[in-house]
Amino acid sequence: MARSEPIRAVRGVRDILPADRALWRAAEQAAVSTARRFGYEEIVTPIIEQAELIDRVGEETDTVAKELYRFEDRGGRKVALRPEATAGVVRAYFEGGLNQRPQPSRLYLLGPMFRYDRPQKGRYRQFFQFNIEAIGSSSPALDAEVIELASEWLVESGLKDVLLDVNSIGDAKCRPAYLERLKEYYRPLKSQLHGECQARLERNPLRLLDCKVDICQPFKAAAPRITDHLCDECSAHWAAVLRLLDAASIEYRLNPYLVRGLDYYTRTVFEIIPAGASGQQDSLGGGGRYDGLAAAEGWPATPGVGFAGGLDRVTELMAAGGEEIVPSPPAEVVILPDPNLDIAAADVARICRTVRTVSVDYEPKSLRAKMRSANKIGARWVVLLSAEDSARQVAQLKEMAGGEQTEVAWADLPGRLA
Ligand code: HAM
Repeated sequence: MARSEPIRAVRGVRDILPADRALWRAAEQAAVSTARRFGYEEIVTPIIEQAELIDRVGEETDTVAKELYRFEDRGGRKVALRPEATAGVVRAYFEGGLNQRPQPSRLYLLGPMFRYDRPQKGRYRQFFQFNIEAIGSSSPALDAEVIELASEWLVESGLKDVLLDVNSIGDAKCRPAYLERLKEYYRPLKSQLHGECQARLERNPLRLLDCKVDICQPFKAAAPRITDHLCDECSAHWAAVLRLLDAASIEYRLNPYLVRGLDYYTRTVFEIIPAGASGQQDSLGGGGRYDGLAAAEGWPATPGVGFAGGLDRVTELMAAGGEEIVPSPPAEVVILPDPNLDIAAADVARICRTVRTVSVDYEPKSLRAKMRSANKIGARWVVLLSAEDSARQVAQLKEMAGGEQTEVAWADLPGRLA
């Protein structure tokens, strides 16, 4: 292979560079502290899962049918890179015996997900999510809790101008009859729908409702609404969720066209978008109830509800909103040794590291050049080290701001830097 071109990152994935990490860390820390305040515990599940786990939860969805990174490993096992975390968290809940503990299990997870979609701004093939899952209860109070937690996370990340869309899409008892009505409504209109919607009509008619293509829009308004066709249990559950949201003063929009892109949802579904947004890749996060998921995976039927927020989009919006987090310098103290003093410089760094972040400039360049580098990275102090000073176990401590320089014994450095 020709070796002329430098190797670049895989299409659709990106690096998060140190300058951007401060903002990411703020969003992650807001996620962790919000989740902890609500009594959620951290869980980490593998990035690879058996492909079948993912297939079982949504063969009809784009995420699984078209966007899944699936491959055979060297042992011939069919595996997939997780496109989302909920299926894996539910699997781990049973395999790890969390179902034996007091219920529900409140869990959160931060990590990368993978979807082979066409990359564009806000849509990546590797992206990061903050997930929360409450597994083992069908109480509508948990639907409201998850929504409140998600909203609080965004507020804590500095995003106040967001909209919450909510809907209920029924369950295995009432949805089939509704889907028949929906198909009946759309069949005479089939030839007027765009190609993908024509295919969806018989296979996954619910998705007709959240189609964003212009020519399909005029037919939505008169389509039957699922919230008018819920069974008594789903209807009571839905009313309770809305009552709880009202009581918590959480503003929402009832959106009868919100159905979500994954197959496993039952009853409550919701999505959070920035105010003024329209595109699908604008959604900051979404979730809902998935009472049939555990059984679809082959585990005992167990209800659950959860949410996932996209960190890529949240941090992009934080930055666009002027949220600026000045990253702390990589090192507060930089040791600048003269040539051939690597051992002494490492010693002095070790001493200073007891109180400050410290790096050593080992490069063979002039003191002026070293000072310039230390200044550029934002160091507060430099420690100049000559052979003569080193022999006496002293060094010159210089404060970058004032320019003041004093001789300090190595042992006294921590005291002077504290
Ligand atoms: P989702 O709506 O597929 O839900 O994804 C949640 C969020 O992840 C989206 O709102 C978006 O912010 C972000 N996201 C999704 N795909 C991409 C992408 N290609 N690039 C950047 N960000 C992306 C779920 O994943 C469900 N598991 C949520 C859930 C948890 N439901 C119940 N529990």
